[in-house]
Amino acid sequence: MPNDFMLITSPSDPALHQVLVQQLTPFWEEALQTSVKPDDNFFSLGGNSIKAVRIMNQLQQAHQAIFHPTSIFDAPTINSLATYCLQNYPEVFCPNQQDNVEEKLTEAQITTAAQQLRLRNAAANIQVDTQGNKNSPTIFLLSPPRSGSTLLRVVLGGNSQLFSPPELYLLSFNSLQQRAEHFSGRLAFFREGLVRALMTLKDCDDRDAESLMQQLEQQNLSSKACFALLQDWLGERRLVDKTPSYALNPTVLQRAEAEFDNALFIHLVRHPLAMIHSYEEIRADLVTQHNPADELPYSARQKGELWWHISHQNILDFLQTVPRERQIQIRYEDFVSEPESHIRQLCSFLDLPFTADMLDPYQDTQQRMSDGIHQQATVMGDQKFHQHQAIDTHSMERWREKYHHDFLSEASWNLAEQLGYNREVFEEEEDEEREEWEI
Ligand code: A3P
Repeated sequence: MPNDFMLITSPSDPALHQVLVQQLTPFWEEALQTSVKPDDNFFSLGGNSIKAVRIMNQLQQAHQAIFHPTSIFDAPTINSLATYCLQNYPEVFCPNQQDNVEEKLTEAQITTAAQQLRLRNAAANIQVDTQGNKNSPTIFLLSPPRSGSTLLRVVLGGNSQLFSPPELYLLSFNSLQQRAEHFSGRLAFFREGLVRALMTLKDCDDRDAESLMQQLEQQNLSSKACFALLQDWLGERRLVDKTPSYALNPTVLQRAEAEFDNALFIHLVRHPLAMIHSYEEIRADLVTQHNPADELPYSARQKGELWWHISHQNILDFLQTVPRERQIQIRYEDFVSEPESHIRQLCSFLDLPFTADMLDPYQDTQQRMSDGIHQQATVMGDQKFHQHQAIDTHSMERWREKYHHDFLSEASWNLAEQLGYNREVFEEEEDEEREEWEI
């Protein structure tokens, strides 16, 4: 089958659509346990999110690319899913597509988008909860997504004094009920991080953890009280909360300082072009499209830049208000190049003993919560985490194979320099400058 794809050079070729429909049909029939015609609706045939995961996993294996189960909510027939995949992943089905030359974002566009993105996976009326005592010291891992945050979370989870679950999305909502209302329908999988945490804390399966979470939601527990409950169940261990969308909302960040006693902050940074490449490659923008906060008139690449820029700017502004001794900055590139020295440095910042287990994030899947909540599910966060077998430098410079011209805004280059990255000079630009000089 992959050979059929390779013969066709344009994603709009109807023959390609047909080949993809033929490939998708057995995946759908196997998941739904019935014969399926190209215009049959997935949900009318008994489809649900677990079956959507199964189908998209098979497509993923066939093409060695990341596809999101939420795509079936947007394109619920085989025909519409084939069209959707060809439109959104042209390079997967027709390699060697010419790269788009894109407009650079302006500062005004970044400022406007920052207002809108505050609401990405967060309540509009989010408030700092100053009632009662502060929660016990917690560690917040702050970064945009696609920065190596899942890897670092799992590394920290290898230390028995820490409890480091997948994305909790607790600080972004005032209460668990508000969180549940936001994460329904196609966004329901965002609830899985807390389910995974409860599975480990209560030593139960996903169904029991889900029903415990629903009980807490019905009690309308505040998110501050939910943190207190988790910490109570954790005993002596300290909680690590890695939820990348916190960095899009300054009020959410303020909550981390105001509602916790002496919280510690790890600011994880990655080269902007590497993060944007990673974001664009997996089409991370498709997961939450149709959410009002995500309806931005920009390409996936520009959205990746916006997320990189706005998160880091918010984190830097926020950390100005936190004493120096409670914050540390770590660069993905340094960390994957020399893991041991950076993990030792982190341990000393967190006042923890270094343990050699931390160097092997692929051990103890359950303890580190690097598995999905059930057999079909994948780890929350980075779908590529299990494509690696160790901490490695493979992803560090991959963006150089794809990006050959400078599309990053002046404002983002300035911020990158502030974070310790050098401004890139692309060969094409060097050639242009040389030509101008020779004329
Ligand atoms: P690429 O997509 O560039 O490969 P996050 O968890 O913040 O979303 O980050 C995802 C990035 O971390 C991905 O980058 C992924 O490959 C990289 N990553 C995951 N596991 C890794 C490992 N063991 N070593 C190095 N990088 C890893």
